[in-house]
Amino acid sequence: MSQPERRILVTSALPYANGPIHIGHLVEYIQTDIWVRFQRARGHECLYVCADDAHGTPIMLKARQEGITPEQLIERTWHDHTRDFADFLVEFDNFHSTHSTENRELTELVYARLREGGHIVEREIEQAWDPQEKMFLPDRYIRGECPRCGAADQYGDSCEACGATYAPAELKNAVSVVSGSAPVQKKSLHYFVKLAGFEAMLDAWISDGAHVQAPVAKKLREWFDDGLRDWDISRDAPYFGFRIPGSDDKYFYVWLDAPIGYMASFKHLCARRPELDFDDFWGADSKAEVHHFIGKDIIYFHTLFWPATLSAAGFRTPTSVHAHGFLTVNGQKMSKSRGTLVMARTWLEHLDPEPLRYYYAAKLGSGIDDIDLSLDDFVQRVNADLVGKLVNIASRCAGFIVKGHDGQLADALPEPALFETFAAEGETIAAHYENRDFAAAMRVVMGLADRANRYIDDHKPWILAKDPARAHEVQGVCTQGLNHYRQLITWLAPVLPRTAQRSAELFNVDAFVWHDAQAPLLAHRINPYKPLLTRIDPAQVNKMTEASQPPADAGKPASGATDLAPECTIDDFTKVDLRVARIVKAEHVEGADKLLRLTLDLGGTTRNVFAGIRSAYEPAELEGRLTVMVANLAPRKMRFGVSEGMVLAAGPGGKDLFILSPDDGAEPGMKVK
Ligand code: MSP
Ligand code: ZN
Repeated sequence: MSQPERRILVTSALPYANGPIHIGHLVEYIQTDIWVRFQRARGHECLYVCADDAHGTPIMLKARQEGITPEQLIERTWHDHTRDFADFLVEFDNFHSTHSTENRELTELVYARLREGGHIVEREIEQAWDPQEKMFLPDRYIRGECPRCGAADQYGDSCEACGATYAPAELKNAVSVVSGSAPVQKKSLHYFVKLAGFEAMLDAWISDGAHVQAPVAKKLREWFDDGLRDWDISRDAPYFGFRIPGSDDKYFYVWLDAPIGYMASFKHLCARRPELDFDDFWGADSKAEVHHFIGKDIIYFHTLFWPATLSAAGFRTPTSVHAHGFLTVNGQKMSKSRGTLVMARTWLEHLDPEPLRYYYAAKLGSGIDDIDLSLDDFVQRVNADLVGKLVNIASRCAGFIVKGHDGQLADALPEPALFETFAAEGETIAAHYENRDFAAAMRVVMGLADRANRYIDDHKPWILAKDPARAHEVQGVCTQGLNHYRQLITWLAPVLPRTAQRSAELFNVDAFVWHDAQAPLLAHRINPYKPLLTRIDPAQVNKMTEASQPPADAGKPASGATDLAPECTIDDFTKVDLRVARIVKAEHVEGADKLLRLTLDLGGTTRNVFAGIRSAYEPAELEGRLTVMVANLAPRKMRFGVSEGMVLAAGPGGKDLFILSPDDGAEPGMKVK
């Protein structure tokens, strides 16, 4: 059954222009690219645009740090990003920048319409200000001691040690990360979008089941019930962004102009493709579809601010916002010290892009669950599925056709019914792709690959080929096998575009489109077989994680301790009561990914201590050990309980944390002096 042709515009979130693309980002761009390629294979018009998100404080400061202009920084990053995406076979119709003429014009237009509609209010607010740099400080540029638990070096909005959230003004001994000076509170005038006026519109938009996934709608409902607060869309100079017309020192907040960057990138594409009309896709009465793919961390911006902004400015709202979960590697957050924060470029230096595309596809469902890249499983699965099952079908059959039959496929299939059984799965697979349940699509395809291999195992062309009288049978069996391969690779082409292209060369055709899986290719000459995919050697993966690790001495002083604290007296020192303690119990703490709960024996009495050493120790390896603790530290109330002291450890953090141990013979409770 053929569907009417759809007109579809697809976007992925715009990556920030202050850093390289890593394998976490790639979950999104690969997911989107697969969906886009699927739509095109189905014969729909599907355009895929993206851009770098070039504005904001981090980009301004990064450029300053490097001694270049923001324009130079974003230009360089644009080239790096473009190359990374291309090499991962992510094929945009246009990859633009939010720092562009199109985006400036559209942002100013949106703002003017918000003003005309009476949606903007002006209000003075008080904020942290760096007197040395003469700039307002976003929360993450202020650090200080947690007002609740006293932990040092915490961000301006929340504490990583105890989980408290607070206003930056509440931090103790706060410093500006930019200059090191103490911030002061300062007032300035800000512009806000009154979101309350959009509540009815947004309520309907998120509740009708069509625009957002069910778990997203649920989350939005919670935010809704808290009430929608006015959205602050202005920032004071110095800022890297677009100046707000009618002001001389105010800039649009990056999150106002970033999504408008989707439209701007499309507009830029229209200039290059005269057959495309901007209003067909973005006009209020557009009949086209607009789909945004995003990570779950930016749902708020895309499902509340963005539809409200669009409707206020007289544009259409998105057809759908598709959110995905976050990538973990080997079950944990990506980490530099473990070598699992892998940059796209580092991956490409050691491995091919397609295995990652396949692995993500095999893991991605339609929901917002996090997905895990387990590196051992990755090697095993890619080798088993793609090399062992899929490509195996072609490599076992092609040789007999090329050598024994001059490349000529048989005139008929020996088992047309089996071909039809496969073909009948095409619409099921399509439905899974359409719903972004790529994992389900991959399961169906790999199940069929097993069947195709069983067919070949049952007919054993390598035995038949020994008997010249059965040459015709060999041709038939191998034609059947190759036609199954052709069906499978047609369905996998959105995921494995390069292998599909190589396979098309084998079959001596231009490319595969979806309906190719419905009819066999017969009485046709194929080309000699060349390897389509090679096995992954686990050593390549190890090299990649090694290359992703910071050098072993990172964070440590170059030659001994050069950054000593100010001198103290023996009296200062003896105020601290250090004791030998035995770790009798060590446990994970639910909800705290940095902490271990230690039960310490001080020679009769026990203490409960929370230690930030989870990144470096498994509880089991600590139990029974002796260590040294500060025994007279004032107890500290934390979210998980009271911490009664502190164990001593050295090292920069992450995996490099080393707790102290006394020599043999020391007993719990002994004073350290
Ligand atoms: N610039 C904003 C998006 C603006 S869209 C108008 C931004 N940029 S980002 O570079 O931080 O992230 C780009 C996309 O990559 C986001 O959708 C984000 O969720 C996704 N990911 C970033 N790290 C990720 C993982 N570790 N795992 C999965 N997706 C991740 O947000
Ligand atoms: Zn705290």
